[in-house]
This record gives sequence, C-alpha cells and structure tokens, in this order.
Amino acid sequence: MMISDLKLQDLLISLTQSIDMISAFIHRHHLRVATMCESLANRLDWDQEKKKHLILAAVLHDIGAVSESDKRDILQIDVKEDHPHAILGAGMLRDFPYFEPIIPIIRYHHHYWHDGEGAIDQNKPVPEASFLLHLADRVDILLDPDEWVLDQSEDVRREISLLTGDVFKPEHVDAFLKESEHDAFWLRLNAASMNDLMARTLADEAPIIMDIDMLESLAKMFSHMIDFRSQFTATHSAGVAAVAYELARVMKYDTDKCRKLRVAGYLHDIGKIAVPQEILEKPAKLSELEFHRMKAHAFYTNAILSSLPALQDICNWASYHHEKNDGSGYPFGIEKGEISAEERILAFADVFTALRENRPYRETMSISDTLKQIVDILKPTPEDEVYSLLVRNVEMIDKARIKAQEAALAKFRDIDKEMQTPA
Ligand SMILES: [Fe+2]
Ligand SMILES: [Fe+2]
Ligand SMILES: [Fe+2]
Repeated sequence: MMISDLKLQDLLISLTQSIDMISAFIHRHHLRVATMCESLANRLDWDQEKKKHLILAAVLHDIGAVSESDKRDILQIDVKEDHPHAILGAGMLRDFPYFEPIIPIIRYHHHYWHDGEGAIDQNKPVPEASFLLHLADRVDILLDPDEWVLDQSEDVRREISLLTGDVFKPEHVDAFLKESEHDAFWLRLNAASMNDLMARTLADEAPIIMDIDMLESLAKMFSHMIDFRSQFTATHSAGVAAVAYELARVMKYDTDKCRKLRVAGYLHDIGKIAVPQEILEKPAKLSELEFHRMKAHAFYTNAILSSLPALQDICNWASYHHEKNDGSGYPFGIEKGEISAEERILAFADVFTALRENRPYRETMSISDTLKQIVDILKPTPEDEVYSLLVRNVEMIDKARIKAQEAALAKFRDIDKEMQTPA
C-alpha cells in the first residue's frame, strides 16, 4: 500500500527538524554542524551525492550520545577516538536501507586522520566525509554559545590548525581556513533553518513515495533512537509494536491498518528524545519534578508526528497512549468516551509490555497479575472490546511480544558488543 501524499523527503525534513529542536541534547548542534558541512563541501567542490550523504550524516551524527556523561565527553576537544556514541549512533540506523551510505560516516565521525594512516581502519576505508564532519563538529564544540561568534573565530581557526595532519585531513583544514575567513561562514550558523538546509540537500533527489514497508522500517529505526538509550528499555517499543499489532489483528482490522498500528507502537515514545537520560534510567521512584519532565514525552510525540498530515491517524494513536478512560490521563486529559479503540490499543499495549518486561528494580509480573494491574491503571469499562480481546488472547499476544523483544535484544547486544571491542 502506498501512503498517499507521504514522501520520504518530507518525513526526513520534519523528523530531523524536531529531533534537533527538542532533543535533550545540545540545542541545535546538529543544525550548526550540518550548516558548516554544507559550506565546506561547497568549498571542496564535492558533488551533490557526496554532499548529500555528508549533510544527512551531520544532521543525525550524535543520536548515539544519550547520557549526561556522553554529553560531557563529547564537549571535550579531545574526545576519545571512535567514542562509543559514534558506534551506537551508526548501529541505530541499520534498519533503514536508505541510510546505508551514511552509517560508516557516523561510525567514524571521531576517527583521526593520523597523517593518512587513519584513512583505513581494520582493512576498511574510512569515508572521507567522516573527517570533514569531525572538523565541523569540533568547530561547534569550540564555540561558546554565550559569546559573540565573531569574537571567537580567530581562536577557533588557530585551534583547528593545530590539529592538522594528526586529527584532520590537511586539505579539509585548508578549505576550512579559506571558508572561515568570511564572516558569513560564522553568522550563518545561528541563522540557519533545518527546513531550508534539508530542502536544498534533497532537492535533486526524485521524490520517494513511501509504502507501508518503508514506513515500518523507518519507524523501527526511530524506535531504536529511544529504546537503545537505556539497557532497561532497549526492547520496549518493539514489544509495544508487537502487542498493538496482535490486538489490531484480533480486532479484525485489515492488514494495512494492523501494520499502521504497529508503526504507532514503534513511535509512541519518540517524544522521550526530549527527556534526559538520567530520568529515563532512574532505578527508583521519580521525584515530582522529574515525573513532570517524564510526562511531557507524550506531548512531544504528538508535536513530532503532527507535523506530518499524511500520518494524522498514527499520530493520534501514538500520542494518546497515556490518556485514560476516566479523563485522568496526560497530557491532553481526554474525556470519557472520547478515546478511540485504536488509541486504547496503544495504551493497553504500552502498559501490558511495561509490566511484563524485565526491569532492574522490580520482578516481571505474571500474566494474571498484569491483567489485574491493567484494570487498575487503565480502568476499562465492562464493555471495552479491546480489553476483553486482550484477556481472551493473552497467551498468543504475550508470545508475539516475547518474540519481538528477543529479536530487538539480539540487535541491541550486537551493537553493544561492538561498542565494548576496542578498535
Ligand atoms: Fe560526536
Ligand atoms: Fe557532535
Ligand atoms: Fe510513554
């Protein structure tokens, strides 16, 4: 099934824009680095395709940096070569073939040139774009956002020059020194718009109309960006997606609708990108303030997905997963009777998966206790069909959940192993 009016390019523009805007990470870092990459690639006369891959890598390069300590690490000028966040970020993108050319660029975006020896790593060529991205990244890290940018440009130019040969490719440093003589190079950084940059970058590409297969694999990829931030939740969205899909099937929805509900499962927590890692991972009860920040994620899921009119139904199903039948849910406080069956599918799938999966601070709950707890939490009415179908099919649904979460865990472990193995 083609999804009418949904172009991959539009989806990428709005997703990269919202990730950059609301990410709990460094505000607009991805946009500034990508803006520099564009100027430098132009200066180096790179062709459109090479430039496109560089810029796409730049707008996503730090998605693997997820914790406060990662953030501290990568704000240092001498980031450890091939820091784990580069490996995790590359691993997160694996599910979506379109991103294949940018995976190695991100994988090596902290790799050193080592006077030319860095061009090959473990018998594999390191993409040239990695070194240029690394340079742009360092420039942005060196800039103090509280100082006027032009007052710092000379210092930054000097610092980058000192790293020629050992860290950066000399040709790239030359291009940077030429390009950054002009004030516009610096002033552009804070005036740039993700929308415009992405539209320019993708302008020559034939529009790619998405079908449901593509949408599913893209949604799965974005779910890794949330799930792989924490060992404890590494498979959560995969579980929710599987349960939502099975509930949709027993509701006898058609196949495409079942698959769209699975997509909503993958995306339901995407707003957690705005929640700091330390809150997501806290092994104890959250304080009131922390809980307020945590709760905001459902609002941000809505904010991210609502920018895509073609996905309006998926947006509603995904972003109402914390609403409750008695109006006591969040963030919209939807009133009794206004929550559709599809939205309740997501709410049941979320709570069922959360209670059944392992968490470090509590035991896994049995199926029968889970069903009891769900009544306390979601307060289904006696005639709630979604709830009664869940009860009737719970063994089958739980098996599908386990299978999906095991597959996601295997993928997470592969990436984790790579991160532990020193290059
Ligand atoms: Fe980085
Ligand atoms: Fe960065
Ligand atoms: Fe949630």
